[in-house]
Amino acid sequence: MPLKKAVVDWDSLGFNLLKTRSMYSANCRVGENWENGSLIPYGNIELSPAAVVLNYGQGVFEGTKAFQTSDKRIVLFRIDKNAKRIAWSTERLCIPKLNPDFFIDAVFETVRDNLDFVPPYGKGSMYIRPIVWGVSPALGVGPATDYRFMIYVSPVGPYFKGGYKSLNLKIETNFHRAASKGIGNAKAIGNYSASLLPLVKAKKEGFDEVIYLDSISEDTIEEIGSANLFIYHDGVLKTPNVSGSILKGVTRDSVCKIASEILDIKVEETDISLSDLFEAKEVFCTGTAVQITSVGSITYKNDVYNYYREDLGPITKKLKKTLTKIQRGEIIDPFGWLSPVIT
Ligand code: COI
Repeated sequence: MPLKKAVVDWDSLGFNLLKTRSMYSANCRVGENWENGSLIPYGNIELSPAAVVLNYGQGVFEGTKAFQTSDKRIVLFRIDKNAKRIAWSTERLCIPKLNPDFFIDAVFETVRDNLDFVPPYGKGSMYIRPIVWGVSPALGVGPATDYRFMIYVSPVGPYFKGGYKSLNLKIETNFHRAASKGIGNAKAIGNYSASLLPLVKAKKEGFDEVIYLDSISEDTIEEIGSANLFIYHDGVLKTPNVSGSILKGVTRDSVCKIASEILDIKVEETDISLSDLFEAKEVFCTGTAVQITSVGSITYKNDVYNYYREDLGPITKKLKKTLTKIQRGEIIDPFGWLSPVIT
């Protein structure tokens, strides 16, 4: 284990930013490649008020986690998937493409320098936030000429305030998260700003999050903004097919593989109608930040649909247990999803 020692109360971790030792920083000019980067002390950065990211939202990010395993290794979970996704997101937002090897090396370097901020086995995880944006100033709309890539990290516990308590969700009928051919399938910062007003309104009404509907017919469900959705009914696990407006979640993909290849559950990536959702036996959401969080009730207009409210549904429980055990190294990682940062 590392010689440096972070001072953190491991028993009260939530999803709040805690300052760590260092962060990764690299710059790139359009037409060049991401090549040189280094660690710098964690802290504030300087930015022109005319930076393209501030004025036109040219920025994308990632979210991934490091875990301490039961045999005291520190591992990254499916970092290759995040590397592929940020390569795709950068291309979609006209940012010089972050190549996967550069990205993965930078994540390793950042985690290694902050190893003592990885929570002990079973106490949480280290959330890793890579972010890249256009820094150069511009008045007219257009991509920046200069870009910055940074990675910061924070020890975290559960994403939602209630811990892993079942969520109380509302179906959003006044706002869409993303257009069908928009940037909903890229991890673009603008997707998250679009979700702020619906989220604030829903929280005021006592909900934890909202479920977005597709923006064309408004009769199929998409995602909840901070996570993907799953339903289980009649022996089949279903999740909305990833389209132009739904993010290809890493946990989403992991749950599909665990269900079909380990637990022998039929999985369908398909359109999910509102009536499918209301008839489902179990509903849960998945994401790096939320992990697997069960949904206890859903409100649509004036109707409330209840699922497993106190405990997890049996399928949700099995999936969550298997995913957690793989991430913590408690069972053999059958898919080769873990990359050791130290062995
Ligand atoms: C993640 O799950 O890593 C995300 O980026 C979602 C974010 C809302 C915390």
